[in-house]
Amino acid sequence: STVYVLNGPNLNLLGLREPEIYGSDTLDDIAAALEDQARGLGLEIELRQSNHEGHLIDWLHEANAEGAKGVILNAAAFTHTSVALHDAIKAITVPVIEVHLSNPHKREEFRHKSFIASAARGTIAGFGALSYTLALDAIARF
Ligand code: DQA
Repeated sequence: STVYVLNGPNLNLLGLREPEIYGSDTLDDIAAALEDQARGLGLEIELRQSNHEGHLIDWLHEANAEGAKGVILNAAAFTHTSVALHDAIKAITVPVIEVHLSNPHKREEFRHKSFIASAARGTIAGFGALSYTLALDAIARF
């Protein structure tokens, strides 16, 4: 079965973007690591990135309609703004794990509020690219 890995705004710039906060791994590096890990778990990875909120909503609906095993969602800055993403997660039954590379609670006050957290199955934050690995490991055990 398939695990969707959905990435929000500015994550296309991973590796170049504030590497002291987000690390030097690119999204392609993370995709390659997850694909290796998924192979060992007998899972498929469908990794996508968009800078547009509506695409993320459509992909959550798609993951649900396709019967995905789970969704790993790094909604990036939309985490802190999007009632629409909150509602999309509530509207579907596929389990969604919220992930962040950084630990938003150690950063600016405006990152302390997550609209995703109360709708997601759980949250993994602060471990860099390892946050994604841990999330995939959790989904494999569902
Ligand atoms: C992020 C944290 C968010 O606060 C920020 O807007 C991002 C990335 C992370 O992975 O650490 O774009 O989701």
